Amino acid sequence: MDTISIWRGTADNTMFPPLEGRATVDVAIVGGGITGLTLAMLLAEEGKSVALLEAGSIGLGSTGNSTGNLYGVVSERLFAIGDKWDRQVMRAVAESRSQAVDLIERTARALPAEVGFERCDFHLYATTAAATETVEREYLAAHHVGLPARLADAAPIAVESRRALIIENQAQFHPLAYLQALAQRIASDRCRIYERSAVIDIDEQSHTLHTMRGVVSARDIVLATHSPKGRFLVHAEMLPNREYGIAARLNQGPYPQGIFWGLGDYFHSIRSLRAGGQEYLIVVGEHHRVGQHDSVDAFLRLEEFARRHFDVAEVSHRWSAQNYRAADLLPYIGRSHASDLHIATGFGPDGLTYGTLAAAIITDQIVGRPSPWAEIYRAGRIEPVRAALGVLEESLGVAKALIQDYAGRPEARAATIRPGEGAVVEVGGEKVAAYRDAAGNLSGVSPVCTHMKCIVHWNAAEKTWDCPCHGSRFDVTGEVIEGPALAPLPRKHFGQWQS
Ligand SMILES: Cc1cc2nc3c(=O)[nH]c(=O)nc-3n(C[C@H](O)[C@H](O)[C@H](O)COP(=O)(O)OP(=O)(O)OC[C@H]3O[C@@H](n4cnc5c(N)ncnc54)[C@H](O)[C@@H]3O)c2cc1C
Ligand code: FES
Repeated sequence: MDTISIWRGTADNTMFPPLEGRATVDVAIVGGGITGLTLAMLLAEEGKSVALLEAGSIGLGSTGNSTGNLYGVVSERLFAIGDKWDRQVMRAVAESRSQAVDLIERTARALPAEVGFERCDFHLYATTAAATETVEREYLAAHHVGLPARLADAAPIAVESRRALIIENQAQFHPLAYLQALAQRIASDRCRIYERSAVIDIDEQSHTLHTMRGVVSARDIVLATHSPKGRFLVHAEMLPNREYGIAARLNQGPYPQGIFWGLGDYFHSIRSLRAGGQEYLIVVGEHHRVGQHDSVDAFLRLEEFARRHFDVAEVSHRWSAQNYRAADLLPYIGRSHASDLHIATGFGPDGLTYGTLAAAIITDQIVGRPSPWAEIYRAGRIEPVRAALGVLEESLGVAKALIQDYAGRPEARAATIRPGEGAVVEVGGEKVAAYRDAAGNLSGVSPVCTHMKCIVHWNAAEKTWDCPCHGSRFDVTGEVIEGPALAPLPRKHFGQWQS
């Protein structure tokens, strides 16, 4: 099954050169998603020289595989933040996120290209009786923090609903068109953007980043890689989730106008998009912990849901992407504990807005200006005492347990792997992550994740090796696709399996 997001399918390509040779700048940013690009823009406006290094192409990560919705509330619910922290924090979250949406609007309106930015209503609706209480509690929280919220008996959508929270003046855009236009606008001699420039080594002592063909030295280094590269305490505090999306053309409308989140036995996010003279329905959902479920089933369930509620002519796009949920419900932004690097992570599925906010906070920190939001989202809030107790080692303990758990499972045999499939097999007492290509040839890599040694799992829909511990993903040749791992999975030789 080919997977390509609606955003990638309806946007142009960018063509920035790879990094070659040496560069010295004020700030080096790793990652060309919404966090990295917004940060590059804001720092350039402050007169800083910037180098942004993107492993693939601009928007390749979660930004170009998201739903493109922008809102002041959060998917974990504002009231849950009020319960976990307090009402002041709850208010600060809504205010800071609303300001970030305003920043995106100002940026989008100043871009030379059309990026689909529109203000619209946000709807959170209950599909079961049990979910109505959640909707009503979220209404009270939204109203309390000053969002333009009201309650209705139902949401204006073809899915049966019992109660709906409606918040006016939220927004949508085309996230990839936005990033690409932003990159074109800010690229200059003092704001250099490099694509196909994966950072493979980070030297904190000398403040240098290494790619295959170049080196960047910088006073400040920002890991805008969604999950920070390397080992950080935050990895032990976040759950990596995969989520799925489909886009479809309908035989007849209406296409839903606005943001729709359905709550009940399961969660779906629904919107529409007009691009290239064509209208699309977008349905996103079916999230699960990375490496723990079958992705093919997730697409089938999404399609079945869409066909049940809409007159679907054809599913045109399928994609999936990752998010990282922070255990205490707030992102981690700024300098991490015991590290000089700036990080921005733990956004959950709300990171188009949080990533923009992170860029504003980190800009303030780099130019030495107080930020009203820095303390709430402080990356170093995980207590050093917990570090002393060895949270990372605890996490490693989980990894070891997983390895043992995996060792207890029945192994696949190399001979039974069909073309286009992969499995962890045992050969001569050693585990190998084996993949058979369309021509029938077997290849293998080590199944031990290079981040903290968990065992990777086969992802059949995307043909990748996914690590259940902190969400690193690798292609069939072992190269890192995303997540905290920096090094590839080492290749394994197994000519003797070819029979
Ligand atoms: C299905 C889905 C739907 C979502 N919908 C929404 C939504 O509607 N609204 C919302 O607010 N949020 C949404 N989110 C969350 C949001 O997409 C993310 O939180 C956000 O895009 C994160 O942006 P980022 O720039 O931090 O990371 P990314 O967009 O992932 O960018 C990180 C970049 O770093 C690059 N990179 C990684 N490693 C290296 C390296 N070693 N060297 C160089 N570059 C590297 C990657 O290639 C990538 O391009 C959704 C998430 C998912 C999974
Ligand atoms: S062990 Fe951390 S991502 Fe694999």
